Amino acid sequence: MKTIRDFDLRGKRVFIRVDFNVPLENGEILDDTRIVEALPTIEYALKAGGKVILCSHLGRPKGKRVPELSLKPVFNYLQRKLKTTVKFLEDLSSEQERAQLSQLKEGEVLLLENIRYYDGETKNEPELARLLASFTDVFINDAFSVCHRAHASVVGIAELVKEKGIGFLTEKELKYLTRVIGKPERPFYAIIGGSKVSTKIGILKNLLPRIDKLIIGGAMANTFLYSLGYNVGASQVEREYLDIAKDILYEAKEQEVKIYLPVDVVVERKGQAYKVSLEEVEEEDQIFDIGEETVRYFSLALEGAKTIIWNGPLGYFEKEPFQWGTTGVARRVAALNAVTVAGGGDTLSALKKAGVLTAFSHTSTAGGAFLEYLEGKELPGLAVLK
Ligand code: 3PG
Repeated sequence: MKTIRDFDLRGKRVFIRVDFNVPLENGEILDDTRIVEALPTIEYALKAGGKVILCSHLGRPKGKRVPELSLKPVFNYLQRKLKTTVKFLEDLSSEQERAQLSQLKEGEVLLLENIRYYDGETKNEPELARLLASFTDVFINDAFSVCHRAHASVVGIAELVKEKGIGFLTEKELKYLTRVIGKPERPFYAIIGGSKVSTKIGILKNLLPRIDKLIIGGAMANTFLYSLGYNVGASQVEREYLDIAKDILYEAKEQEVKIYLPVDVVVERKGQAYKVSLEEVEEEDQIFDIGEETVRYFSLALEGAKTIIWNGPLGYFEKEPFQWGTTGVARRVAALNAVTVAGGGDTLSALKKAGVLTAFSHTSTAGGAFLEYLEGKELPGLAVLK
C-alpha cells in the first residue's frame, strides 16, 4: 500500500478522507482527538504544495441535512488551528458552490460538509463517487476508523482514482494492529471487556490462537460466570449466548490459553455499592465492576507481558464508584514494559478517566474498524488501496 510520502503533491488536488466524527454538544467539540490525529497528514500535504480537500462524515444523518450534524464547528476549529486559508463547501450539489474547488490554491484547505448528508455516500453510489473523483488527483485515506465501511468517499472514489494511498494516521494504526495480529512479541495477553459477549465473539475467536492469556471483565464477564454456574443476581446476562461462552472457555483450554474471570465484584444493592465475593452476590444485586481482589489478580496475571491488546471497559466506569476496577487495571497496564494497544470509544474514555491514555503505546481512534480488523476481516477501505 502506498503512503502519502509516495506522491508528488505539488499543485495537485489532494482529497483526504478523514474521520472528523467527533462528539459535539451545542456546537462545541467535546473531544478533538480525531482531528488532532489527522493534522500531521493535512500539514504534510499543505507543505508539499497540495490543494487539500478534506472529507468526513459526522454521525448518521441518513442522507438528510441534519443541522446538528453539520461540520461547521470543525470548520471553525480548523480555521483557528491551520495557518492557511480554510474554505467550507456547504452543498456539493450546487454548481456555484463547487466553483470553490477550481479556485482552490496550493497550500489551501477546503472542507466539505458532512458527506453523509448525501444519500449516495452510505450506498456507495457511483454517481457520488464519480463526482468526488472528478475533483481529485490524489486520494489519501487517513480515516482508518471508517475503513470497515464500503462508502462512496472511502471505497467508490478510490476505485476511480489512480494515485491513492494512506495518510500518517492510518499508517500508524496499521503499524500497531498488524504487529499485534501478525507478529506479537510473546507473551501476548488480551483484556476484553464491555457489555456484551455477542459483539465480541469474532474478536475472541480470532485472538485465541494468538494469545497466551485472556482477561475478561465488564458485563460480558457475567455471562461467562453464569455459564459456569455462579449466581450473578439481577446483573445483565446474555442467556442466549451461554453455550457460546462455554465454547469459548473450552476452545481456550484446547489452545492452552489461560482465562481470567473476576473473583470478586462490586454490586449495586438498593442504590448502594458493595464489594462482595462471587458467593455473596444476592438475587437483586447488579454487578457493575470487578472488585479489588480481581484487580490484584488481573494485575498479577499481566506481569511479564510483552504485548497487550485491550478492548472494552471492565466495569460501568461512567458511573461512580464503578470506575475503579478499570482504572486499577489500566494503571497497572500503563506501567508495564510492553507494547500496549487499546481501541474502542468506551475503552479510550475509560483510559482517559484513569489518566493513562498517553502511557499506552497506541490508542486507536477506531471503534468498529478496530474490532473488525481484530476479527480478521478484510476492511473494504484498505482492500481498495492495495
Ligand atoms: C466511528 O465513530 O467508529 C466511525 O466514525 C464510523 O462511524 P459509523 O459507525 O457511523 O460508520
